[in-house]
This record gives sequence, structure tokens and C-alpha cells, in this order.
Amino acid sequence: MSIPTDFNDRMLSLGLARVAEQAAIASAKLIGHGDEKAADQAAVNAMRDQLNKLDIKGVVVIGEGERDEAPMLYIGEEVGTGEGPGVDIALDPLEGTTLTAKDMPNALTVIAMGPRGSMLHAPDVYMDKLAIGPGFDEDVVTLDMTPTQRVEALAAAKGCKTTDITCCVLERPRHEEMIAEIRATGAAIRLITDGDVAGVMHCAEAHLTGIDMYMGSGGAPEGVLAAAALKCMGGQMYGKLMFRNDDERGRAAKAGITDLDKIYKRDEMVTADVIFAATGVTNGSILSGIKREPGWITTETILMRSKTGSVRRVIYRNPFE
Ligand code: FBP
Repeated sequence: MSIPTDFNDRMLSLGLARVAEQAAIASAKLIGHGDEKAADQAAVNAMRDQLNKLDIKGVVVIGEGERDEAPMLYIGEEVGTGEGPGVDIALDPLEGTTLTAKDMPNALTVIAMGPRGSMLHAPDVYMDKLAIGPGFDEDVVTLDMTPTQRVEALAAAKGCKTTDITCCVLERPRHEEMIAEIRATGAAIRLITDGDVAGVMHCAEAHLTGIDMYMGSGGAPEGVLAAAALKCMGGQMYGKLMFRNDDERGRAAKAGITDLDKIYKRDEMVTADVIFAATGVTNGSILSGIKREPGWITTETILMRSKTGSVRRVIYRNPFE
């Protein structure tokens, strides 16, 4: 597919940061209140309002779900003023709804934008994921390897022992075997209860986060968002869609996916240069969460462009009732 050239990523990037910031601010009052749905809804409403202010002809390709499941920011919804470049948008207004409801670390608002046809239209199924940070030979670890082989290969490439490697894994019963196998190599595991976009992003800043590798299954839409983040930050990522039944295979067919066994590399999930913004909702190891003080609210956003490899951290302080 030919990629249109009218996507002005430089001009649009600040607008994208605003979208992520406003979604985070909207969910702020719901941090720690035990209501996942309300926190998500607040972020969705704010993200949609802000997106509709941007001069784009946008289409949501990764969103809140199919049209019949999600009234807002559904897959295929057109957003923006309709003036400006045609763009594809992948978003998760609140990545870590439970983290937000329980005031646990690393809840984010996440959005990526690229020219039309730039992002895999991943259906809402699971994806087997593997990610490492920048600076390694291509395919030093792959999804075809066992967890043990991945840990050993990464340790060899880093010139360290397997006991010096730390993997990030979602804590789920389906990962018990993999966790036991990783531990048997001597590697450490940072278990997370939710939020694998942040989990993958941690690999790109291993020196700060202490995470060398991410592995395990999570949402496929989150996989594409994580691939967009790594395309900007550097690093390798692989994803394989997982199907449990005919309904899920049907979702893939609807999204135009015919090869159900394909292992997607990062640049097959995100095929052109994109911009990516994420704002911290709760405090985390890659972004600070929202700070509220009397009359003021402060957010931290990571704003990145894959074309230039630029990574900005934007602190936004604004009067707030
Ligand atoms: P939500 O914010 O939509 O709740 O998603 C959180 C999340 O942890 C994702 O980061 C991850 O990809 C997915 O859920 C994992 O799914 P499951 O909870 O079914 O294992």
C-alpha cells in the first residue's frame, strides 16, 4: 500500500500531546475510587473531544472496540475537524483501568497517529508479545524461541549472566509455566498486574527501569500501541495474534487479516513513521502520574516522533478548579 505524504507529524505532535493530557486530567478525579468504568468513560469523552479539535481527517483503527460494542472511539469512527491530512489513529484512552481504580502504578493514556494505512488493524483478541530495547542485532530473540532460549540469547548479547536479566510479565494464570521457566534460568521477573504497553516501553529504557525484556500474551490492540512506542524509542518487538474460537477468527477476517499464524515484527505492525503520546495517570517508572494541588493540576507526557527519534517529556501545569 502506498503511504500518503501529507502527514505533517511535526505540526500535529503538540496537538496529540494535548489529547493525551486532557484524557488523563479527566480521569484524575477517579484515581483510587474503585470504579474502572467511570474512569475509562471520563478518559474516552475527553480524548474524543480533544481529537475532534484537531485539523485532521482521522479514522480510529485501534479503539474502544467494534462499533456495536463501543459508542465512542469505536473502530472506524471518523475524528477531527475533517480539514487536514488523512490519518490513522490508535488509542487507548485509559491503559490500565484497574490500575487507575486501585491507584496502582503505570496507568497511562495512550495515542498514536500515522498516515492512512500505517497501522495493523489488530482485532480485539490476545497477542503473544516479545520485546527488547535498542542496541541489539536483529532477531537476537524471537517468538519461536523458548523463554529459556530468549533469556540465554539476550544475556549473551548483553555480555552478562542470565541472572543479570530481568523480564517483565503480566501476572496471569496463563503465564505460570512461562514464569517458572524464566525463573529456572536464574533471571528475575517483574510481575505487573496490568498495563503491558508500559511494560513493553520499559524495555526501551532498560538503564532506568531495570527491565530487559517483555514477554507474554495481552491485548492485540495494546500490542500495536506498544509497537508504535518502540518504533519511536528504538527496540525490537514481535507479536502473534492468538485465537480461541470462531468469533475471534471472524474478528480477524473483518479486519482484513488472512494469515492467522503470522508473526508480526514491529515495523509490520506499524509500517510508516508515526507520532506517539502517553500521559501518566498514576505514578509509574516511566512517567509521573497526575499531581493535584489546590488550584493546579500537573501532568507528564512522553511525546515522540519515529521519523526523527525525538523523545520529549512535556510537563503541563494548568489552573484547575
Ligand atoms: P484495560 O486498561 O483495558 O483494563 O487493559 C489492561 C491490560 O492489562 C492491558 O495492558 C493488557 O494488554 C490486557 O489488559 C491483558 O488482558 P487480560 O487482563 O485479559 O489478561
